[in-house]
Amino acid sequence: MKKEMLSGKIKRRDFIKTAAAATTAGVLAPYVHRGHAQLNNSDELRIALLGAGSQGQVLMNACLKIKDIRFAAVCDIWEAYNQRRATRILQKYGHDVTPYLDYRDMLAREKNLDGVLIATPDFWHADHTVGCLESGLHVYCEKEMSNTLEQARRMVKTARKTGKLLQIGHQRRSNPRYLHCYHKLIKEAQILGKLTSINGQWNRSVQPDLGWPRKYAIPPAVLRRYGFQSMHQFRNWRWFKGLGGGPIVDLGSHQIDIFNWFVQGLPHAVMASGGTDYYDKATHEWYDTVMAIYEYKTPAGAIRAYYQTLTTNSSEGYFENFLGDEGTLHISESAGRGGMYREPSSPSWEKWVEMGYLVAPEPADLTASTAVLDVRETIAPPEHELPVVFNDPYHKPHLQNFFNSIRGLETLNCDHDHGYETAVAVLKVNDAVQAGRRLVFDPKEFKV
Ligand SMILES: NC(=O)c1ccc[n+]([C@@H]2O[C@H](COP(=O)([O-])OP(=O)(O)OC[C@H]3O[C@@H](n4cnc5c(N)ncnc54)[C@H](O)[C@@H]3O)[C@@H](O)[C@H]2O)c1
Repeated sequence: MKKEMLSGKIKRRDFIKTAAAATTAGVLAPYVHRGHAQLNNSDELRIALLGAGSQGQVLMNACLKIKDIRFAAVCDIWEAYNQRRATRILQKYGHDVTPYLDYRDMLAREKNLDGVLIATPDFWHADHTVGCLESGLHVYCEKEMSNTLEQARRMVKTARKTGKLLQIGHQRRSNPRYLHCYHKLIKEAQILGKLTSINGQWNRSVQPDLGWPRKYAIPPAVLRRYGFQSMHQFRNWRWFKGLGGGPIVDLGSHQIDIFNWFVQGLPHAVMASGGTDYYDKATHEWYDTVMAIYEYKTPAGAIRAYYQTLTTNSSEGYFENFLGDEGTLHISESAGRGGMYREPSSPSWEKWVEMGYLVAPEPADLTASTAVLDVRETIAPPEHELPVVFNDPYHKPHLQNFFNSIRGLETLNCDHDHGYETAVAVLKVNDAVQAGRRLVFDPKEFKV
């Protein structure tokens, strides 16, 4: 495969930028749906942030760039640090927020909220989501929906019972580049031909355990009340069984969600190999290395999808490749990556270039691709670039989709049912590692 493709070519031509705004608008317009309950008064939505750690603050910062969003409350058990920091930032931006330690107090006192953004550790998602939905609030809950399917089912049932919206934070589903690839290239143009395989990965370098400023440590009794044994566990919850799901859930869930979306189906079986090979098992209960293979059975035939997450080496970073008999789509949330590669024998893509769905390779690339390097090697096809450039915060369109759905202007791009399907597919990888064998999904497993 072409070297630039794997290394994520960061090359943007000026004319793509000019075309981007128009194309993005064109991509998004057809997916606007109407019909949800209308708001009574102004367009302003009053929201709370529940969990103001690193991701909560990413969501908060994205919301500060969205019109008509007013924060009214921040809830976080780390009073002296994250709660205080988020409250100060919001106050600096003119939001009159009340800080809370316990979400039940917040729900008891805040009577004018429209929605809540939940970015607490995975094992808290179900209690927080159910509590908020039952208080009449719409919920944006970060992925993974929950660390257990039993709890995730509780979330789905409560969303259905209350009729409130539940968006799960698989934000690529609202990303204009992914929307373009799905709606225009895969569905409409069927540009890959017959999709036969997928590979994706998230590789990252060795990282030290997360620490904390000692003077801001949470008292042990408070930690225990909220399910943590120590400050170390509180900061590094992702690695602990019962709290998170390890890197395959933390990182892989985003990309496996895209596998299902672009395949327009759900996996039939999964096999996986993994283990805590590098880190200390006492503090890294979940696997630091996982390699999984999903099998899909679609009406068009079988698709095999490989996914790996490494936490000891960052080679090639993170991306998803969709490989069909007529071409390859290389896509990543990383804004500088993305491109299409036509198989030499497949029909011309000129039509799609003329329609603005792709940007043709530069003549220099075409010349380079005809050079024979080695007779045994397949010559890498030239890269067609994607015409959509997206430079906003990655989570902003998904949040906007949530807010516009509350306003009745759109429908959710990742509602509780999609979130649940992805949780079923992803959590099964850890089961397959543990079982040491191929596990078959019962289609009923994906339904609540
Ligand atoms: N969508 C994405 O790209 C993305 C990226 C990173 C993290 N996440 C998700 O966001 C969530 C949070 O991850 P993070 O990296 O911010 O973790 P974090 O540990 O940095 O932050 C969690 C915050 O929740 C608070 N908290 C813990 N228990 C609480 C409780 N019971 N009530 C109130 N506050 C509580 C903590 O004090 C902390 O401030 C996770 O579900 C994670 O999977 C999503």
